[in-house]
Amino acid sequence: MWPNTKKEKTAWLNTALGKNHRAAKNGRQMSKFIKIGHRGAMGYEPENTLRSFDKAIELGVDMIELDIHLCKTGETVVIHDESVDRTTNGQGLVGNMELGELKLLDAGKGERIPVLEEVLSLVNKRAAVNIELKGRETAQPAADIIRQHVSNGWNPELFIVSSFDWDELREFRRCAFGNRIGVLFNNNYDDLFDFAGEVAAYSIHVPQEKASEDLISDIKRRGFKVFVWTVNEKEDIEKIQKLGADGAFSNFPDRLATR
Ligand code: G3P
Ligand code: CA
Repeated sequence: MWPNTKKEKTAWLNTALGKNHRAAKNGRQMSKFIKIGHRGAMGYEPENTLRSFDKAIELGVDMIELDIHLCKTGETVVIHDESVDRTTNGQGLVGNMELGELKLLDAGKGERIPVLEEVLSLVNKRAAVNIELKGRETAQPAADIIRQHVSNGWNPELFIVSSFDWDELREFRRCAFGNRIGVLFNNNYDDLFDFAGEVAAYSIHVPQEKASEDLISDIKRRGFKVFVWTVNEKEDIEKIQKLGADGAFSNFPDRLATR
């Protein structure tokens, strides 16, 4: 249920701000390594398709990750690139195409590009969902869809919304009180902690090549979860587990053995 009373809002914010994680950091509770299926299980099935998300769940993920854009008719479609060229048999920009046109395309093995609601219907609370805001103006639609699913019995903790586009995350925080935010970054992270504090982030999602012991411990010390992307090789997975990451994204999520 969406929080209404002050008490509900406080409880929800405590979750969003990761206070449970801070308790874990202080040794009062153990946290498990979170297995995240990158674009589903894209090492095995066509990325960001229902088939891929189904496979990830079959492989025992705790969370699936997906990317969203808006199409011309306003639906929230699950696709990584701003164009359909790489992942389907069509051509063109997602934002210039109506949902009906997109649905005619083959996204691999006969799969169709799903809308976010179709993915959530498939997942049906069996895993958490990391929604990455790839396209512009996706914050508000994502917040609306999450709100609707929370009203229908989904635990708000089952959602993390992330983005490289920090303005989009600011907008998401403005319209989604208390939901979990994950901050993505690539090379430059000078303002990372200021920004993560500003939007009351739950987690920081670190590219594998930047996942040093110092950075991971700094992030954890500041009370954020650390999820590393995209880790596919067994030795790299073991390495980031030893460094204390809280979880990782993988194209082969079955390789993310639990500690
Ligand atoms: O969210 C982690 C990862 O998915 C970010 O990179 O390009 O795979 O969306 P990308
Ligand atoms: Ca992504």
